[in-house]
Amino acid sequence: MDGNGRWAKKRFMPRFFGHKQGVDALVRTVLGCADRGIDYLTVFAFSSENWKRPTEEVSGLMGLVLVAVAKYLGKLASHGVRIRIVGDRNQVSDKLRQAWEQAEASTAHNTRITLSVAFNYGGRWDIVQACRQAIAAGLPADQLDEAALTRFMALSHAPDPDLFIRTGGEVRISNFLLWQAAYSELVFSDCLWPEFGDAELDAALAEYARRDRRFGTVESPATASARIET
Ligand code: FPP
Repeated sequence: MDGNGRWAKKRFMPRFFGHKQGVDALVRTVLGCADRGIDYLTVFAFSSENWKRPTEEVSGLMGLVLVAVAKYLGKLASHGVRIRIVGDRNQVSDKLRQAWEQAEASTAHNTRITLSVAFNYGGRWDIVQACRQAIAAGLPADQLDEAALTRFMALSHAPDPDLFIRTGGEVRISNFLLWQAAYSELVFSDCLWPEFGDAELDAALAEYARRDRRFGTVESPATASARIET
Protein backbone atom coordinates (compact mmCIF):
# COMPACT_ATOMS: atom_id res chain seq x y z
CA MET A 1 0.00 0.00 0.00
CA ASP A 2 2.65 2.49 -1.11
CA GLY A 3 2.26 6.17 -1.96
CA ASN A 4 0.35 7.59 1.01
CA GLY A 5 3.02 10.15 1.84
CA ARG A 6 3.37 11.37 -1.75
CA TRP A 7 -0.38 11.57 -2.15
CA ALA A 8 -0.57 13.85 0.89
CA LYS A 9 2.47 15.90 -0.16
CA LYS A 10 0.88 16.63 -3.55
CA ARG A 11 -1.98 18.20 -1.60
CA PHE A 12 0.32 20.14 0.77
CA MET A 13 -0.96 18.00 3.63
CA PRO A 14 0.97 16.09 6.32
CA ARG A 15 1.91 12.47 5.52
CA PHE A 16 -0.50 11.29 8.20
CA PHE A 17 -3.38 12.56 6.05
CA GLY A 18 -2.24 10.20 3.30
CA HIS A 19 -2.21 7.24 5.72
CA LYS A 20 -5.72 8.21 6.86
CA GLN A 21 -6.95 8.15 3.27
CA GLY A 22 -5.02 4.91 2.89
CA VAL A 23 -7.28 3.26 5.45
CA ASP A 24 -10.33 4.18 3.35
CA ALA A 25 -8.60 2.74 0.27
CA LEU A 26 -7.91 -0.44 2.23
CA VAL A 27 -11.56 -0.89 3.27
CA ARG A 28 -12.67 -0.15 -0.33
CA THR A 29 -10.22 -2.71 -1.67
CA VAL A 30 -11.18 -5.43 0.81
CA LEU A 31 -14.85 -5.09 -0.14
CA GLY A 32 -13.96 -4.82 -3.84
CA CYS A 33 -11.99 -8.07 -3.62
CA ALA A 34 -14.83 -9.79 -1.76
CA ASP A 35 -17.29 -8.65 -4.47
CA ARG A 36 -15.01 -10.15 -7.13
CA GLY A 37 -14.87 -13.54 -5.43
CA ILE A 38 -11.29 -13.22 -4.19
CA ASP A 39 -10.88 -15.45 -1.12
CA TYR A 40 -7.64 -14.10 0.33
CA LEU A 41 -6.15 -10.61 0.44
CA THR A 42 -2.92 -9.81 2.26
CA VAL A 43 -1.82 -6.21 2.73
CA PHE A 44 1.49 -4.75 3.87
CA ALA A 45 0.56 -2.17 6.49
CA PHE A 46 3.76 -1.78 8.52
CA SER A 47 7.13 -3.33 7.81
CA SER A 48 9.81 -4.34 10.30
CA GLU A 49 11.82 -1.44 8.82
CA ASN A 50 9.05 1.18 9.25
CA TRP A 51 10.10 1.72 12.91
CA LYS A 52 12.96 3.79 11.46
CA ARG A 53 10.50 6.47 10.30
CA PRO A 54 10.18 9.66 12.36
CA THR A 55 8.69 8.92 15.82
CA GLU A 56 5.77 11.20 15.05
CA GLU A 57 4.84 9.22 11.94
CA VAL A 58 5.22 5.86 13.70
CA SER A 59 3.02 6.87 16.63
CA GLY A 60 0.54 8.45 14.21
CA LEU A 61 0.30 5.15 12.33
CA MET A 62 -0.19 3.14 15.54
CA GLY A 63 -2.96 5.49 16.65
CA LEU A 64 -4.53 5.38 13.21
CA VAL A 65 -4.74 1.60 13.30
CA LEU A 66 -6.58 1.73 16.64
CA VAL A 67 -9.02 4.29 15.23
CA ALA A 68 -9.45 2.26 12.03
CA VAL A 69 -10.21 -0.94 13.93
CA ALA A 70 -12.81 0.89 16.05
CA LYS A 71 -14.34 2.55 12.99
CA TYR A 72 -14.36 -0.28 10.45
CA LEU A 73 -14.30 -3.60 12.29
CA GLY A 74 -18.11 -3.82 12.44
CA LYS A 75 -18.47 -3.01 8.75
CA LEU A 76 -15.86 -5.54 7.65
CA ALA A 77 -17.30 -8.20 9.96
CA SER A 78 -20.81 -7.64 8.58
CA HIS A 79 -19.46 -8.18 5.05
CA GLY A 80 -18.05 -11.57 5.97
CA VAL A 81 -14.40 -10.54 6.31
CA ARG A 82 -12.16 -12.71 8.47
CA ILE A 83 -9.19 -10.73 9.81
CA ARG A 84 -5.79 -12.19 10.59
CA ILE A 85 -2.72 -10.24 11.66
CA VAL A 86 0.70 -11.46 10.58
CA GLY A 87 3.92 -10.11 12.02
CA ASP A 88 5.87 -9.79 15.24
CA ARG A 89 3.42 -8.73 17.94
CA ASN A 90 6.05 -8.49 20.68
CA GLN A 91 7.07 -4.95 19.78
CA VAL A 92 3.60 -3.38 19.54
CA SER A 93 1.71 -1.80 22.44
CA ASP A 94 -0.66 -3.83 24.65
CA LYS A 95 -3.51 -1.69 23.36
CA LEU A 96 -2.76 -2.53 19.74
CA ARG A 97 -2.23 -6.21 20.54
CA GLN A 98 -5.63 -6.30 22.22
CA ALA A 99 -7.25 -4.56 19.23
CA TRP A 100 -5.71 -7.18 16.90
CA GLU A 101 -6.92 -9.99 19.15
CA GLN A 102 -10.42 -8.53 19.20
CA ALA A 103 -10.43 -8.11 15.40
CA GLU A 104 -9.33 -11.72 14.93
CA ALA A 105 -11.67 -13.21 17.53
CA SER A 106 -14.76 -11.34 16.39
CA THR A 107 -14.29 -12.27 12.72
CA ALA A 108 -12.95 -15.82 13.16
CA HIS A 109 -16.20 -17.40 11.93
CA ASN A 110 -16.36 -15.34 8.70
CA THR A 111 -15.71 -17.11 5.43
CA ARG A 112 -16.28 -14.66 2.55
CA ILE A 113 -12.72 -13.30 2.38
CA THR A 114 -9.68 -13.56 4.64
CA LEU A 115 -7.87 -10.26 5.09
CA SER A 116 -4.36 -10.76 6.43
CA VAL A 117 -2.79 -7.56 7.67
CA ALA A 118 1.00 -7.72 7.70
CA PHE A 119 2.07 -5.50 10.57
CA ASN A 120 5.59 -5.30 11.98
CA TYR A 121 6.23 -7.91 9.31
CA GLY A 122 9.12 -8.71 7.03
CA GLY A 123 9.54 -11.64 4.67
CA ARG A 124 12.95 -12.44 6.13
CA TRP A 125 11.60 -12.20 9.68
CA ASP A 126 8.92 -14.73 8.71
CA ILE A 127 11.41 -17.25 7.33
CA VAL A 128 13.57 -16.95 10.45
CA GLN A 129 10.65 -17.24 12.86
CA ALA A 130 9.36 -20.29 10.98
CA CYS A 131 12.80 -21.96 11.26
CA ARG A 132 12.91 -21.16 14.97
CA GLN A 133 9.45 -22.65 15.49
CA ALA A 134 10.37 -25.77 13.54
CA ILE A 135 13.50 -26.24 15.68
CA ALA A 136 11.53 -25.58 18.89
CA ALA A 137 8.97 -28.19 17.78
CA GLY A 138 11.81 -30.70 17.49
CA LEU A 139 11.53 -31.19 13.72
CA PRO A 140 14.55 -33.26 12.63
CA ALA A 141 16.68 -31.66 9.92
CA ASP A 142 15.94 -34.46 7.43
CA GLN A 143 12.22 -33.77 7.78
CA LEU A 144 12.57 -30.04 7.20
CA ASP A 145 11.38 -29.54 3.63
CA GLU A 146 9.39 -26.78 1.92
CA ALA A 147 6.00 -28.17 2.93
CA ALA A 148 7.09 -28.59 6.56
CA LEU A 149 8.48 -25.07 6.82
CA THR A 150 5.37 -23.60 5.15
CA ARG A 151 3.32 -24.90 8.07
CA PHE A 152 5.27 -22.64 10.43
CA MET A 153 5.08 -19.51 8.28
CA ALA A 154 2.95 -16.60 9.50
CA LEU A 155 0.64 -17.01 6.50
CA SER A 156 0.13 -20.76 6.84
CA HIS A 157 -3.63 -20.10 6.91
CA ALA A 158 -3.57 -18.76 3.33
CA PRO A 159 -2.54 -20.20 -0.04
CA ASP A 160 0.39 -18.61 -1.88
CA PRO A 161 -0.73 -15.40 -3.58
CA ASP A 162 -1.57 -15.61 -7.28
CA LEU A 163 -1.24 -11.87 -7.75
CA PHE A 164 1.09 -9.41 -6.02
CA ILE A 165 0.28 -5.73 -6.53
CA ARG A 166 2.54 -2.87 -5.50
CA THR A 167 1.19 0.66 -5.81
CA GLY A 168 3.15 3.91 -5.77
CA GLY A 169 5.40 3.34 -8.79
CA GLU A 170 8.33 1.56 -7.09
CA VAL A 171 9.37 -1.68 -8.80
CA ARG A 172 10.58 -3.84 -5.94
CA ILE A 173 9.24 -6.32 -3.39
CA SER A 174 10.68 -4.63 -0.27
CA ASN A 175 10.77 -7.73 1.95
CA PHE A 176 7.09 -8.64 1.50
CA LEU A 177 6.01 -12.30 1.19
CA LEU A 178 9.47 -13.46 0.12
CA TRP A 179 8.62 -17.12 0.66
CA GLN A 180 5.02 -17.08 -0.51
CA ALA A 181 5.43 -14.96 -3.66
CA ALA A 182 7.85 -17.37 -5.38
CA TYR A 183 5.43 -17.85 -8.28
CA SER A 184 3.12 -14.86 -7.84
CA GLU A 185 2.43 -12.65 -10.82
CA LEU A 186 3.80 -9.18 -10.02
CA VAL A 187 1.87 -6.07 -11.06
CA PHE A 188 3.33 -2.63 -10.38
CA SER A 189 0.94 0.29 -10.48
CA ASP A 190 1.84 3.99 -10.59
CA CYS A 191 -1.36 4.73 -8.70
CA LEU A 192 -0.73 6.15 -5.22
CA TRP A 193 -2.42 3.92 -2.64
CA PRO A 194 -5.09 6.43 -1.44
CA GLU A 195 -6.34 6.58 -5.05
CA PHE A 196 -6.53 2.81 -5.49
CA GLY A 197 -10.08 1.80 -6.32
CA ASP A 198 -12.23 -0.46 -8.49
CA ALA A 199 -10.66 0.71 -11.77
CA GLU A 200 -7.10 -0.03 -10.57
CA LEU A 201 -8.14 -3.36 -9.05
CA ASP A 202 -9.83 -4.41 -12.30
CA ALA A 203 -6.79 -3.27 -14.32
CA ALA A 204 -4.52 -5.44 -12.14
CA LEU A 205 -6.86 -8.43 -12.46
CA ALA A 206 -7.02 -7.95 -16.25
CA GLU A 207 -3.21 -7.85 -16.38
CA TYR A 208 -3.10 -11.03 -14.28
CA ALA A 209 -5.55 -12.73 -16.68
CA ARG A 210 -3.18 -12.00 -19.59
CA ARG A 211 -0.24 -13.72 -17.90
CA ASP A 212 0.84 -17.22 -18.80
CA ARG A 213 1.64 -18.99 -15.53
CA ARG A 214 4.10 -21.81 -16.01
CA PHE A 215 5.44 -22.48 -12.49
CA GLY A 216 8.83 -23.39 -13.95
CA THR A 217 7.45 -25.77 -16.57
CA VAL A 218 7.24 -25.23 -20.35
CA GLU A 219 3.49 -24.73 -20.41
CA SER A 220 0.95 -23.52 -17.89
CA PRO A 221 -1.18 -26.11 -16.02
CA ALA A 222 -4.24 -24.49 -17.66
CA THR A 223 -2.78 -24.90 -21.17
CA ALA A 224 -1.68 -28.46 -20.42
CA SER A 225 -5.09 -29.54 -19.14
CA ALA A 226 -6.82 -27.82 -22.11
CA ARG A 227 -4.52 -29.77 -24.46
CA ILE A 228 -5.28 -33.06 -22.67
CA GLU A 229 -9.03 -32.45 -22.84
CA THR A 230 -9.13 -31.62 -26.58
C1 FPP B 1 3.60 3.28 2.60
O1 FPP B 1 3.39 4.53 1.98
C2 FPP B 1 2.52 3.03 3.54
C3 FPP B 1 2.68 2.76 4.85
C4 FPP B 1 3.99 2.63 5.50
C5 FPP B 1 1.53 2.59 5.74
C6 FPP B 1 0.32 1.94 5.13
C7 FPP B 1 -0.75 1.93 6.14
C8 FPP B 1 -2.05 2.15 5.91
C9 FPP B 1 -2.64 2.34 4.59
C10 FPP B 1 -2.97 2.14 7.08
C11 FPP B 1 -3.13 0.73 7.58
C12 FPP B 1 -4.29 0.64 8.44
C13 FPP B 1 -4.75 -0.50 8.97
C14 FPP B 1 -6.02 -0.47 9.70
C15 FPP B 1 -4.04 -1.77 8.86
P1 FPP B 1 4.40 5.74 2.22
O2 FPP B 1 3.86 6.60 3.27
O3 FPP B 1 5.76 5.21 2.39
O4 FPP B 1 4.25 6.50 0.88
P2 FPP B 1 5.37 7.36 0.13
O5 FPP B 1 6.25 6.34 -0.54
O6 FPP B 1 4.57 8.16 -0.85
O7 FPP B 1 6.09 8.22 1.12
